[in-house]
This record gives sequence, C-alpha cells and structure tokens, in this order.
Amino acid sequence: MALKLTPRLQAVAGRVPAGARLVDVGTDHAYLPAWLLLEGRVPFAVCTDLRKGPLDRAQETVTRHGLADQVSLRLCDGLTGVDSGEVDCVTIAGMGGETILRILAQAPWTAEKVCIVQPMSSLEDLRTGLAPLGLRVGRETLAREGETLYVILDLCPGAEGPLTRAEALVGRASNHAGDALWPDYLDQEILRVRRALAGLARAAGDQAGRSGLAQALAGLEQMKKEL
Ligand SMILES: C[S@@+](CC[C@H](N)C(=O)[O-])C[C@H]1O[C@@H](n2cnc3c(N)ncnc32)[C@H](O)[C@@H]1O
Repeated sequence: MALKLTPRLQAVAGRVPAGARLVDVGTDHAYLPAWLLLEGRVPFAVCTDLRKGPLDRAQETVTRHGLADQVSLRLCDGLTGVDSGEVDCVTIAGMGGETILRILAQAPWTAEKVCIVQPMSSLEDLRTGLAPLGLRVGRETLAREGETLYVILDLCPGAEGPLTRAEALVGRASNHAGDALWPDYLDQEILRVRRALAGLARAAGDQAGRSGLAQALAGLEQMKKEL
C-alpha cells in the first residue's frame, strides 16, 4: 500500500539529504522515515519515541511496508539511545520548540549533523536558544495544511548572530528567500501580534510586554514592505 505524507511531513522529507542515514525523533507512526525509505531517498533509519504506544504504531508501519531490515526502533528520550556514528541526519518534527532545544542540548554531536526541525510552538525560544548549542538556522521552509502554516528549519553549525524581535518570531527574511508562502506567513504573524497587542492594551500594566510586541510588529511590517 502506498504511503502518502501530509504537506507538513512532505516538506520535512524534502529537506533530508539523499543517501543520509536518518534518525527521526518522536517518530510516532514512522510515516516520515517509512516514506523516505520506500522512495529510496535514505538507506537506513533509526526511529525513536519516548512512549511505547507510538513506537508500536511505528512497528506496524515498518511491518506493513516490509522495511524491517532498514529500520531500528528505539524507546528512548530524544537521542539518548542513538550513537552519533549511526546517523548523518536528524529530524525532529511535531514537537514544541522547547522540547526540540532540550533534545538537541542532550546530544551535542547534533552540531555536526544535518538537523531538520519542525516546531509546533515556541519558535522564538527555539531560534534564540540555538546559539549556545553551536547551531544556527539556515534555510526555512513553509508548508500549508488547511489554515495552518508550519515552519521547517534547517539547522547548521555556527552561532546565530543577533536577531531582532521580529526575526526571532519569523526568522530572517533571507532564510525564506523565494518561498511563495512567506508573504502569507508574515500576514499571519502580523495579525497574531496585533491581536496580542490589543489584548495587552485592554489589560492594565505590562508596559515592557507591550513595547516588546510593538517593536516586533514594527519589524514584521517593515519585512512586509520590503517584499
Ligand atoms: C505529535 S507527535 C509527532 C509525530 C511525527 N514526528 C510527526 O511530526 O507527525 C510527537 C511524538 O513525539 C514523541 N515525543 C515527545 N517527546 C519526546 C522525546 N523527548 N523523545 C522522543 N519522543 C518524544 C511523542 O511520544 C509523540 O509520539
């Protein structure tokens, strides 16, 4: 039976270098590694998950598609059960930005690998928390599923230079160059920050929060003008 990825996972798959030995962290159904293996894009995949239920689902996918010889399933926290020499590329998709940071920090060897991460939340914390890990954001890819836009970050070795508040929220404009969804993403984030500012305006106090958001909004609007 053919395996079809959602646009979000398809966009993650598109960033995995051909021929790389993969570890997919928090794999759940293992759809991403299974698709990459079935397409012949990767030769081997380690799939990790913290919980037995998701790993059982991964096992079902592997068995259904006859991939047992090319997959190693591991019940572990993040990359704690993976040896750096086993893999060339790390994918971490569908988790919060803070969890992604913690998983990367627990495995400093990730700074020498291709890392592709797709955070569901806390993007600002993720972008600003990479420098101490010796990582910075390279290309950013957007994927749309219904009304939702997801961001996929390629991480590279090196320290991120200073980011403006707007850049911490949406990434540097240069990292999104040529992405047809970038204008929509900017619109979405401008709306979100305007709503947050309106909420703060109704509440008393938090002058610092308001001025930080106002600065972020000005930066986002400037990025929009420069399109
Ligand atoms: C929302 S699912 C995402 C599944 C898949 N990666 C995707 O993007 O569709 C999150 C998965 O990550 C697993 N997970 C959460 N924290 C983890 C950790 N620290 N280490 C390994 N797996 C984790 C959960 O058990 C769950 O199966």
